[in-house]
Amino acid sequence: MSKLLKALKGIQEEKPPIWMMRQAGRYLPEYKELRKRYNFHEMSHQVELAVQVTLMPFRHFPLDAAIIFSDILTLFEAWNIAVEMVETIGPKISSPIHTPADLYRLPVSADLSALNHVYDAITEVKKHITVPLLGFCGAPLTLASYLIEGGSSPDLKKTRAWIQQDPVSFHLLLEKLCALAITHLKGQINAGADAVQIFDSWACHLSDEEFNLFCAPYHQKMVQSVQKTAPVILFTRGSDRFLDQLVNAQPTAISVDWSLNLSDAFKRIPKCISLQGNLDPHLLLQDCKSVKVAVENLLKQVEEPYRYIFNLGHGILPGTPLENVHQIFECVDAWKM
Ligand code: CP3
Repeated sequence: MSKLLKALKGIQEEKPPIWMMRQAGRYLPEYKELRKRYNFHEMSHQVELAVQVTLMPFRHFPLDAAIIFSDILTLFEAWNIAVEMVETIGPKISSPIHTPADLYRLPVSADLSALNHVYDAITEVKKHITVPLLGFCGAPLTLASYLIEGGSSPDLKKTRAWIQQDPVSFHLLLEKLCALAITHLKGQINAGADAVQIFDSWACHLSDEEFNLFCAPYHQKMVQSVQKTAPVILFTRGSDRFLDQLVNAQPTAISVDWSLNLSDAFKRIPKCISLQGNLDPHLLLQDCKSVKVAVENLLKQVEEPYRYIFNLGHGILPGTPLENVHQIFECVDAWKM
C-alpha cells in the first residue's frame, strides 16, 4: 500500500507522505514555459496537456501523491457557465448570479459530459504513476461565492449579503452545487482517482454561526456520499476556528492551515481521523536556511506520525524557489521519528 493511503488509514510508515497543494502550478519553470503557448483553459481541457502538467512536479521532487491538473471552477462547465482566467486578476465567471431570481437561470440538470476531459486525464495519468492520484472539488460555499461575486473576492461581501437577506434561496443554491460536486467527485473516483480533497477555501470569511448553517451540513453530506468509495480529505481556511465542525463531518483526513499549530491539532482531532498540513507557504519564499528551521519546527509537533501527511497550509505560491521545496524533502528524510 502507498505511503499516502497508509497515512490516511493510520498505519505507521517509516516517513510521512509528502504532497503539496497547487504542486502542479505556476512556480514550476516548465509550467511557465508551457503557459506562454497555451491559456489555462487549453491546458486544463486538452487531456495530453493536463496529464503533462500533473506529472511536471515529479521531475523535480519525489512526491507521494499526484493531484489532477484542473480547477474547482471547471465544475461550472457542466452548467454551461464559462470561466476565464484573466492574467494577474484571476478567474472571471461569464454570467454571475446576482439575485435569487437568477437561480432559475441555472439548468435543471447538469451536462456531465462537459467534464469528460477531467475524467479522461485522470485515467491517462494513472498509467504513468505508481503513487496515488488525488481528485478534488470545491465545497458548495466556496463555489457559490465564485458564482455570486463573479471571481475571487477579499470579503465575500455579496455572498454574505445574500446569506443574510435570503438564507432559504442560498440553501437552494448550495444544495444544487453540493449534488453536482458529489457527482463530480464520484466521476473522478470512477475514472481512477485514489482519494479526493474537498476545498472550502473561502469558508474563513463566515461567522461561526454561518459556518454551522452553510458549510458544515454540506461537508457532512459530501463526505458521507463519497467516503464509501474513496478516502476524503477536507480542507478549509480558518482551521482553528472550525476544527470541531470539521471533525464532526468525519472525513478520512483534515487538512489544516497555519491558524493553529500541529501539536494542538493532534490533540483536537480524534485518532481515527488523519491530519494534513500545515506549513505556511509564505515561508517557502524565504531563504533555504529559514525553510529548514521552519520545517524542523513543524516536524517537532508531529506527535502521531502514523496519521500525518506533510503538506502546506494553503497552495504553494508563485515565485517559490525550487531549492526551498527540495529542502522540505531533505528535512523530512533526515527526521528521526
Ligand atoms: O493543486 C494542483 O496543483 C492541482 C490544480 C489546482 C488548480 N486550482 C490549478 C490552477 C487546484 C487543486 C486548484 C484549486 C483551486 N482553484 C482553489 C482551491 C484551493 C485554493 O488555492 O484555495 C481555488 C479557490 C481555485 C480558484 C482559482 N483558480 C483561482 C483563485 C485562480 C487564480 C489565482 C491562483 O490561485 O492561481 C485559479 C487559477 C489556477 N488554478 C491556476 C492553476 C495552476 C493558475 C492559472 C494560470 O496559469 O494563470
